[in-house]
Amino acid sequence: MKKGRIFSGARPTGRQHIGNYLGALQNWIKLQDEYNCIYCIVDIHALTSLEDTSNLQNNIREMILDWLAVGLDPKKSILFVQSHVPEVMELHTLLSMVTPLSWLLRVPTFKEKIKLQPENVNYGLVGYPVLMTSDIVLYKATVVPVGEDQLPHLELAREIIRRFNSLFGYTFPEPKGKLTNYPLVIGLDGKEKMSKQAGNDIELALSAGETIEKIKTAYTDPARRYRSDPGHPDKCNVYKLMNYFESTSVSGIAEKCQKAEIGCVDCKMILAEAINKALEPIREQRAELAANPKYIAEVLADGAERAQIIARETLTEVKKNMRLI
Ligand code: TYM
Repeated sequence: MKKGRIFSGARPTGRQHIGNYLGALQNWIKLQDEYNCIYCIVDIHALTSLEDTSNLQNNIREMILDWLAVGLDPKKSILFVQSHVPEVMELHTLLSMVTPLSWLLRVPTFKEKIKLQPENVNYGLVGYPVLMTSDIVLYKATVVPVGEDQLPHLELAREIIRRFNSLFGYTFPEPKGKLTNYPLVIGLDGKEKMSKQAGNDIELALSAGETIEKIKTAYTDPARRYRSDPGHPDKCNVYKLMNYFESTSVSGIAEKCQKAEIGCVDCKMILAEAINKALEPIREQRAELAANPKYIAEVLADGAERAQIIARETLTEVKKNMRLI
């Protein structure tokens, strides 16, 4: 007997990076046996930042390949594309009527987006968290496994839900976020959250050689300018990542770094090797899946069909509660 329903989603930015993997996907995979899981490629959300959609279909394909390759299983979970279940857009409109604009204007990601894309501050961008709330409540999910950056959105979702329930009667459960033990992966620049947009990411699907080249560009402890300078592993993002991928043998490395017995280039090579070793089976699986586009299309069509059954039921209940029917 499964414990309840889980929903999570990700924007179709194409190939997934190590931040998505450590921050979210690892939980998604684990939770499949415990919960009824629904995982969604949120293409409508992507439109809030995309004026050129020529790569959208390709990005969706790249992303589902990664999801399947890391171990999301369409027999256990529903995997689908957001726009294939258009009920979410109807619910978005209904929820927008109970969401004060002031709540949306104070969301940190909205403020960031204004800075990132000042020429494209569109209406959809303001409503981003309302659409995200609609995703979650359309399936009455109670648990939402995400990275740390999504927590403010979830907090707002809970507020919208509370307001809806108090106005129209209990309809939606309040969902809780669920973090991995690596909820904020910093990028290769050692400063910002790992992301495609910041260009500081390591894609899961890179080849072993490409991974080595990428990791060579990583920032390490800034205080360590020469090989002979003692290092500070606690300030080094390469060390942090190494801990995750090479947990059994890193304790000695910290000490060697502090005594300047090991250089940053050596550490980068250790990290690249560890990542390549961990990702090798995933990359093999991905290559097999990529050769079977028919299967990928079937997975997404089946996922949308199963998701829509739940979505229609919820939407009817919402409309009844709002006295629209
Ligand atoms: P998105 O597409 O930015 O990211 C997908 C998931 O990956 C996590 N993540 C990270 N975790 C740790 N470190 C990082 N550097 C890192 N980068 C990404 C994110 O936290 C996220 O869990 N708004 C969401 C998508 C969404 C959604 C939803 C999520 C739409 N509707 C409903 C949950 C429920 C987003 O843009 O994620």
